[in-house]
Formats: sequence, C-alpha cells, structure tokens
Amino acid sequence: MGEKKLLCVGLVCLDIISVVDKYPEEDTDTRCLSQRWQRGGNASNSCTVLSLLGAHCAFMGSLAPGHIADFIVMDFQRRGVDASNIAWQSQGDTPSACCIINAANGSRTVTLYDTNLPDVVAEDFQKVDLSQYKWIHWEGRNAGEQVKMIQRVDSYNKALPADQRITTSVEIEKEREDLYQLFGYGDFVFVSKDVAKHFGFHSAPEALRGLYSRVRKGTYLICAWAEKGADALGPDGTIIHTDAFPPDVIVDTLGAGDTFNASVIFALSTGKSVQEALTFGCQIAGKKCGLQGYDGIV
Ligand code: ADP
Ligand code: FRU
Repeated sequence: MGEKKLLCVGLVCLDIISVVDKYPEEDTDTRCLSQRWQRGGNASNSCTVLSLLGAHCAFMGSLAPGHIADFIVMDFQRRGVDASNIAWQSQGDTPSACCIINAANGSRTVTLYDTNLPDVVAEDFQKVDLSQYKWIHWEGRNAGEQVKMIQRVDSYNKALPADQRITTSVEIEKEREDLYQLFGYGDFVFVSKDVAKHFGFHSAPEALRGLYSRVRKGTYLICAWAEKGADALGPDGTIIHTDAFPPDVIVDTLGAGDTFNASVIFALSTGKSVQEALTFGCQIAGKKCGLQGYDGIV
C-alpha cells in the first residue's frame, strides 16, 4: 500500500464568486471586477489546501448528479484530491453559494443553499477502508451521525499500536446547538471565533479556557481569530499562541479558516509540534488572504 492519506468529511458546494470594489447596495444593478466558479465547502477547501501543500488527501461528502457536480468532480481531479468516497444522492440539489468578495478589504459575504441534500451518514462511512488513512477530519454538520463515524475510528484505533492509529480532528464552525456534542470527540478540535463569540467569549484564549471542559482527555482545542492569529490549549493547561501573518493587502478571506485548519493538520501530520503547526497555519492562511482563490499559497 502507498502512503496513507488524509480524509476530510463535510461539505462540497459550488461557490459563485463576484469580486467587487465596493459592496453593493440592495436593489442596485452594478458591475463587478471579476466573476468565477470555485469549488467550495469547508472540507472541500481544506482538501484543496492539503493537496497544494503536497499531501495525499481524499474528500468524503454528498453530491447530486448534474452539471454542478461534474464541475466539482473535475475540479477535485485537477487538484489531485481523491473523490472516490463521494456519496451520490438520488434526491436533492448539489449545494451552491453566492459569494461576494470585497477586494477593498477582503471581506466575504456568503449565502449558502445546502438544505435539501442528505449528508453522508455512518452507514456510508462504514464502507470507508480505514487502513488507507492516517488522519480523518470532520467538518461539523450532521453531528449525531458524525459521532458514530468517529466512534468507529476510535474502536479501530484500539486494536492498533500507537504509531498506526488514525488521528482524528473535528471543526465546530457554525453556531448550532447540535454541533456542540462534537467537542467531546477528536484528538484536535477546531472551534471558530463565531462559536466562541456565541458562547460570550471575547478572545481565543478566553474561549479555550471556557470551553476546554467540554473536550475529552488529551485533546487539543484550537481557535483561530482572524487578524489576531490563533491559539491552542492542550492537556498540560498552557495556552499556545501565534500571531497572524497579514499579507500586504487583504484581498480575499473566503476559506481563510479552511486554509488554516488544513495547514495545521498538514503540519501536525508530518510530526510538527502544536506551536509549529499553529504558526504554519497562520502563515499559509495569511498568504491565502492576499490572493484571490488558493493558487500561490505555496
Ligand atoms: P474564517 O472566518 O474563514 O473561519 P478566521 O477569521 O478564523 O477564518 O481566520 C483563520 C486564519 O486566517 C487566522 O488564524 C489568520 O491566520 C488568517 N486570517 C484571517 N483573516 C486575516 C486577516 N485579516 N489578517 C491576517 N490573517 C488573517
Ligand atoms: C468557506 C466556505 C465556502 C462556502 C461556505 C459554506 O469557508 O466553505 O466555500 O460557500 O463556506 O458555509
């Protein structure tokens, strides 16, 4: 068997991106600087970045057959991402998003439509050949099913010596009550600043201290905070911090968090320390913020 891969489970969607020089007012008809289709979705974007960093990676999520799915599958291929775990659904639409990127400050405004396509469930995950993977990352979505998937990996790991186990990570990005059960799973838990703020925290260190009681023993909890960089808290109780690496001009922050997660996972999967991984994550995410899309991050 070849080198083991990293697998990201979560959303893939079509991002229809308009780059504007000024955010449009409601009910106006204006021109934009450029427009593009881009494969999106947190887990899918993280695969793009992992691949650009040189990792062998795979995506698992749902698609509905059709033109949009054809574009998405071709784009996975172009980026060298293994898409063989995609679950083809017979009902629902491939998710899509309208994304407005303001080139003046890099802000991204997203309206996502992902409501009627079933997510992959534990039964789909049962078919995954775990021996191919060294790391599996879940973007929190249908948390109840995802817990069952993680439990499958946990019991698979129990029968193996430490150096052959699969490392697990979870992202809790959206402010949704059902996702919070995921704090209790995974070797690494990424919590977003939106969720942190929802819990009433005003900084990454404050959020890490406040939320750490929710994670299982031994887990590292990681929180990125845009231009403030990122922090992590592990079992020894020490906060690890890295400043951001802002580019000269911030042009596109769409997927900055997904880039950060992927870069941290990549660094950790190659044996780097948590401090080194956070720094690498902020470096690559900072670079991404200075570019439209992902080309040029390495
Ligand atoms: P998202 O909102 O996409 O989830 P975050 O805002 O949490 O992402 O940012 C993730 C990482 O991206 C940050 O830790 C930082 O390294 C980088 N980043 C994001 N925005 C900026 C910015 N304005 N300046 C510098 N780095 C940034
Ligand atoms: C970026 C992103 C976009 C997608 C949206 C979904 O993080 O994954 O690609 O449209 O978020 O919430």
